[in-house]
Amino acid sequence: MKIMCLNGPNLNRLGKREPEIYGSETLQDVENKLVALAETLGATVDFRQSNHEGELVDWIHEAEDAAFDAIIINPAAYTHTSVALRDALGGISVPAIEVHISNIHKREAFRHHSYLAPVCVGQICGLGTTGYEMALRYFTQR
Ligand code: DQA
Repeated sequence: MKIMCLNGPNLNRLGKREPEIYGSETLQDVENKLVALAETLGATVDFRQSNHEGELVDWIHEAEDAAFDAIIINPAAYTHTSVALRDALGGISVPAIEVHISNIHKREAFRHHSYLAPVCVGQICGLGTTGYEMALRYFTQR
């Protein structure tokens, strides 16, 4: 099983960025954990991050064109703003899970709405970086 894991803006700063909200792990730590878990589950993870909306759109198209089996996506702030990412995910047949490290529903009102959730299988939030692993387990055990 071939999984694409996409991370949106500012997640390259994980570990340094608001550690009281997002913790002290870096995105490299998250990638290492996910890749190691994938190996034990017989899957591969192509892990990427971008601060640019269009690049994320291109990668979602690539997930379909290059026959990925599933997408794990933390769209970060684009969750709450991006019709483009929603349309990209809505226009492919590859299933996606939306992951957030923090519980977006406990935070500012503008974080409560996700443009992407309606075109995803489901949303995992508030479980820290474990959410990525749970999404991976879901797709490999389905
Ligand atoms: C986030 C939550 C978003 O609201 C925020 O803009 C992020 C990170 C999370 O993982 O908790 O950048 O997606």
